[in-house]
Amino acid sequence: MNMLQNNKIQLKIIEKEDLDLIQKWNNNFNITQYTTLTSFFPRNRDEELSWYERKYKDNSARIFMIVIKENDTKIGFISFSNLDYRNQKAMLSIVIGEEEYQGKGYASDSLKILEDYLKHEINIRKISVQILGFNKPSIGLFKKNGYLEEGILKSEVYRFGKYQDLLILSKFL
Ligand SMILES: CC(C)(COP(=O)(O)OP(=O)(O)OC[C@H]1O[C@@H](n2cnc3c(N)ncnc32)[C@H](O)[C@@H]1OP(=O)(O)O)[C@@H](O)C(=O)NCCC(=O)NCCS
Repeated sequence: MNMLQNNKIQLKIIEKEDLDLIQKWNNNFNITQYTTLTSFFPRNRDEELSWYERKYKDNSARIFMIVIKENDTKIGFISFSNLDYRNQKAMLSIVIGEEEYQGKGYASDSLKILEDYLKHEINIRKISVQILGFNKPSIGLFKKNGYLEEGILKSEVYRFGKYQDLLILSKFL
């Protein structure tokens, strides 16, 4: 049985063929204004490919496409990184890149599936996420799902012409 699903969605490990969608989302400022990507230049296919090749060789991280089962549509991705077995913790990130699918509960569903997997299969105890201080949708998403604010990195990220705070929210599974 595949643990990485519920009745509506499935989390499928990312494949090279998904790079078209990843590239589309990475080049949509409505999305990337909220993400903490280190590169802010538009990314071409070769850059996406080298990102992908770096990621799948990294055993402390995995990226999953979020797929709606009913119509087999890929709407975003969720990933964990910095998997730390000694301290049983990891970092998360999530993007619902297809904007018409935002606000429909898919991020909450994806989070629950990944949390369950990290807790019951990988034996992870604590997960954390970094969120730009102005990203109200994401702060709302994580608070609604039981994440608590642990700290604020002051003026950490330059965006919209000024330095923005970066919040750290965490949850003990
Ligand atoms: C943040 C994001 C992942 C939320 O995904 P989503 O599928 O729309 O979220 P859900 O529908 O599961 O919403 C869950 C909760 O999040 C909050 N939320 C989601 N969208 C919101 C919005 N536009 N404004 C305020 N709160 C919002 C609400 O608390 C919501 O609960 P509710 O529906 O009971 O009010 C999505 O907006 C996104 O991909 N944004 C761009 C990239 C990004 O910010 N990623 C996170 C980086 S840390």
